[in-house]
Amino acid sequence: MQQLLLLLVFPLPLWAGAEEIIGGHEAKRHSRPYMAFLQFLAQESKKRCGGVLVQEDFVLTAAHCWGSSINVTLGAHNIKEWERTQQLIPVRRATCHPAYNPKNFSNDIMLLQLERKAKQTAAVRPLRLARSKAQGDSGGPLVCNNVVQGIFSYGSKNGKPPGVFMKVSHFLPWIKKIMKHH
Ligand SMILES: *[C@@H]1O[C@H](CO)[C@@H](O)[C@H](O)[C@H]1NC(C)=O
Ligand SMILES: *[C@@H]1O[C@H](CO)[C@@H](O)[C@H](O)[C@H]1NC(C)=O
Repeated sequence: MQQLLLLLVFPLPLWAGAEEIIGGHEAKRHSRPYMAFLQFLAQESKKRCGGVLVQEDFVLTAAHCWGSSINVTLGAHNIKEWERTQQLIPVRRATCHPAYNPKNFSNDIMLLQLERKAKQTAAVRPLRLARSKAQGDSGGPLVCNNVVQGIFSYGSKNGKPPGVFMKVSHFLPWIKKIMKHH
């Protein structure tokens, strides 16, 4: 079976500093329990990004979201308010792709290891990474529409295409290596 190319469009823009919601429509409450919201410091100001929880203690995001003091909020519906479903977890270690090039955004991908595992709830659940048959996946059917296939790198400010997506499957060997070594 061919893998579907599912592009994750984040409800929050990934470029630093922006605060508006792309497209202006609000997501259904906790319809994306794998969504992570990042806050970090870069150039002495507070920036924000989106990400995807891919394991209880790992978040996949774009490398241009690198900064210091990165905190991840999971289970948020409205990030401007404190909600009981939210889990705020600091990042222990951020690993940018070694070939990331900030000039042309090639390999704009980064893995964040969290200080502790997220508690799985109705509002917080990891999204499985795309797996291919070549890697000997015999564990049940391939779930096509609930699998990470792309990560948003950058796009126009109004959230309309063209946006650039990193194909996650291309980075799977690197992602697996990083997650295994921690
Ligand atoms: C992350 O959380 C820590 C502890 O709550 C806090 O001191 C720090 O300022 C936060 N970082 C950002 C960028 O908000
Ligand atoms: C980005 O720049 C690097 C270094 O100059 C180059 O090797 C790479 O091919 C470029 N990638 C793209 C997508 O333009």
